[in-house]
Amino acid sequence: MKTLKELDVKNKRMLVRCDFNVPLDEKGEIEDDFRIIKTLPTIEYLIKKGAKLILMSHRSDDKNLAVVRERLEKYLKGKKFTLLENLRLDKREEENDQGFAKELANLGDIYINDAFGVCHRKHASIVGVPKYLPSGAGFLLEKEVKVLSKVLENPERPLVVIIGGTKVETKTKVIKHFLEKADNVLVGGMIAQSVNFISSKLCLPIDHKANFDIGSNTIKMFSKIIKTAKMIVWAGPLGKFEDPLYEKGTKKIAKEICKNNKAFKIVGGGDTIFALTKWGLRDKFDHVSTGGGAMLEFLSGEKLPGLKALE
Ligand code: 3PG
Repeated sequence: MKTLKELDVKNKRMLVRCDFNVPLDEKGEIEDDFRIIKTLPTIEYLIKKGAKLILMSHRSDDKNLAVVRERLEKYLKGKKFTLLENLRLDKREEENDQGFAKELANLGDIYINDAFGVCHRKHASIVGVPKYLPSGAGFLLEKEVKVLSKVLENPERPLVVIIGGTKVETKTKVIKHFLEKADNVLVGGMIAQSVNFISSKLCLPIDHKANFDIGSNTIKMFSKIIKTAKMIVWAGPLGKFEDPLYEKGTKKIAKEICKNNKAFKIVGGGDTIFALTKWGLRDKFDHVSTGGGAMLEFLSGEKLPGLKALE
């Protein structure tokens, strides 16, 4: 995997895949631009080196990237860049259509992947484009891989993994992987309802608040385990935290993790990070990953297609 500094980028059209899939509020305003900020070092470096920038990103929904463009304009203070539209508005992106990959590749001379959060997806802009262009990793991707590789190779024990959120399909298989690697796997949120296997290491909620949050007995049970951990990996809220009525489970567990001073703490995922930012707890974590599902898949030992494509 080539890194950015190994590439001669001057006057080159740099096609940079970013993950600008940021949470938006009801009015469509950005709630947390953490992922945008984390991509700025790559973007600013390329501008400084005299490259031409073509940025691209998806959103998980069908919204456009207008608010992302505005935010980038603010941070880049008049420096020129092109931002393509939400890639998933073209269904060929998720189909990894080679025609689409070639169309994208034609826009650049070099492809840079700085979208760690999407490296678990076999999509055209992730695995297709690097077939047709010289490619490399952006600074964010490089850093994520470096930090998370250390964890993967040499986890501190007890290793406690907490998985919540909604992306059931991605997460069910990582739960199974973590049951082999971790000492305890705590599962809450929507995903808990789809777990249909058992293991002595697996902890599922024992009570709920109106099906939108974990209940107080579950909070107690999870907290007891979190106290024992030397390493904690967390992705995905444990309930509908955006509604104050159902934020208690996620908030209490977040606080419990932060109280554990002995543990190396890693967190990932757009919603989870947004929740931590809101409660002023983000900085208490040792590594805040821009990936949610991607981070979990990487740490569970899977080879991410987006990383393979850069090799
Ligand atoms: C994320 O939010 O985890 C990434 O942007 C990937 O989004 P996706 O789960 O819709 O592929």
